[in-house]
Amino acid sequence: MRTDYSAQLTTADVGRSVTLAGWVNRRRDFGGITFVDLRDSSGIVQLFFPGDATELAESHTLNREDVIRVVGTVARRSDENVNPEMVTGEIEIRVEELTILNRSVTPPFLVEGDGSDTTEETRLKYRYVDLRRESMQRNLQLRHRIFKSIRDYFSDEGFLEIETPFLTKSTPEGARDFLVPSRMMPGSFYALPQSPQLFKQLFMIGGIDRYFQLVRCFRDEDLRADRQLDFTQLDLEISFPSDKEDVLAFLEGSMARVFKETLALDLEIPFPRLTHAEAIARYGIDKPDLRYGMEIHDVSDVVSGSGFRVFADAVTNGGKVAGLLAKGCAGYSRSALDQLQDVAVAAGAKGLAWLKVEETIASPIAKFLSEDEQRGIVEAFGAEQGDLILLLAGTGIEPPLGELRRTIAKQENLATEGWNFLWVTDFPMFELDEAGKLTSSHHPFTSPRAEDIPTLESAPLNALSNAYDLVLNGIELGSGSIRIHDRQLQEQVFRLLNISPEEAELRFGFFLRALEYGAPPHGGFALGIDRLVMLMAGEQSLRDVIAFPKTTTGLCPLTEAPMPVAKEQLDDLGIATR
Ligand code: AMO
Ligand code: AMP
Repeated sequence: MRTDYSAQLTTADVGRSVTLAGWVNRRRDFGGITFVDLRDSSGIVQLFFPGDATELAESHTLNREDVIRVVGTVARRSDENVNPEMVTGEIEIRVEELTILNRSVTPPFLVEGDGSDTTEETRLKYRYVDLRRESMQRNLQLRHRIFKSIRDYFSDEGFLEIETPFLTKSTPEGARDFLVPSRMMPGSFYALPQSPQLFKQLFMIGGIDRYFQLVRCFRDEDLRADRQLDFTQLDLEISFPSDKEDVLAFLEGSMARVFKETLALDLEIPFPRLTHAEAIARYGIDKPDLRYGMEIHDVSDVVSGSGFRVFADAVTNGGKVAGLLAKGCAGYSRSALDQLQDVAVAAGAKGLAWLKVEETIASPIAKFLSEDEQRGIVEAFGAEQGDLILLLAGTGIEPPLGELRRTIAKQENLATEGWNFLWVTDFPMFELDEAGKLTSSHHPFTSPRAEDIPTLESAPLNALSNAYDLVLNGIELGSGSIRIHDRQLQEQVFRLLNISPEEAELRFGFFLRALEYGAPPHGGFALGIDRLVMLMAGEQSLRDVIAFPKTTTGLCPLTEAPMPVAKEQLDDLGIATR
């Protein structure tokens, strides 16, 4: 059908006869002469149809997205026609033979460009046209190469890729399950896995030693730009890790190989680390973007005796006064500052105090602060003229400070180019949910640090775990932990999580039993591959790196799933809908 791919032709091919096949990107007629941009999976080349050849008359009827095959000769473009924007801009194909393989109706949008001439809904409805877009071709090719690199790395390191069931039982990862009704056992349901967590632990108990899988996971949760209902994890688990270091080293090794092989970049490994407590205290978030600084500074000492009651009371009542330095932002308008206050308040702050460092200090609270306090605050931040200091007072002020930091960094475009990997370690074992109940910070199979086991019962909220997260440029890429491999400890954790022995048996009995048959120490990790590809492709949404994604309302505009089903189908399953 063809001898070459369009975009692989260069001036070295001038004079060669080639046969190409692909889509009409666009057609331009000049008098009798026709130019067509021919697109295939490699890119675009310009076709030149001389005006006089009657056997090429059909070239005048070509429309966007028609499928054609041409035979022609590679020619050098005349100097004035060279297009430096195009990979193949120095050449064109002088067409001698044209075959129209198929016609297209008028496409719903242009395949050229970034898709901003249409809505995402339309792009997804006609995804098969959208996939022809250069960015989609590039992203899916990158996705493939990342997958290949990962597979090669872990295979070389002695990991086995083994599938785990999709029709299975609930795995608690903090989202809702997708349920699949059983026809053979009416009234019973399978759950699609939120992750292969328990199966990979069973692999370790089963002597598999090192396992990995590029695996689809299913979570019924509210969608955002970095979340899908079904998404792909690089899931892995190893037996007999000396401690978490072995797991982290495999992740670092695999990321280094992926970046080398796909982007020709040398990542610096090992990646830097922060403990969870440090990350919160310094950046107000457990996944800080360290491409910019703007650390949180605590000025409680400076203002503990302040005449400004909000500050003094915060310190007296066990809270603190801390804030951020926004370099060069003293010019922020009143409304810009009000917006920052809204950001802080939405994240849980009681208010936002600000000081503009100018000739003097300009601030609504300046009149409440002594000269010494003002100077002390300015010195604590190392602030200079033209800077803005933002202060929050109270308890739990780190998350709103983290939000302010992110907001200002975005507004001021502070993030430098680059790949900022970061490990966050020593997560708390438990946290309180909205109802004030103890939940796992990671998941219930995560082990507490050995030194915290004796006080697990008496002070669970003080216990730290052997859990770690990998962060890239402020986005959580993945999580993992060293697991519990002892039945008693696992039961104790379930108890602390308010899971009764009966419920534990019902939900996890098979797993608790497995722990009794010689479970080795083990640990692992799961990395969100879609997020990795998104970042490496420079995209803002997972939808740009997934072939057939769902919209934020969980719809697939292409197939129109989810849909009602026929009554007979429901009858088979013994299901009635309300
Ligand atoms: P966790 O639940 O943190 O850990 O998931 C690991 C990584 O998977 C990605 N991810 C998602 N990506 C897209 N859409 C989603 N809805 C979504 N949910 C999660 C994230 C996340 O960091 N079994 C444990 C891992 C382990 O302990 O080994 C787990 O699944 O990038
Ligand atoms: P008020 O005394 O409540 O009118 O507040 C005076 C200033 O202090 C306003 O700019 C408030 O936004 C700010 N403020 C109030 N509470 C806090 C707080 N907890 N932390 C930081 N600033 C606050």
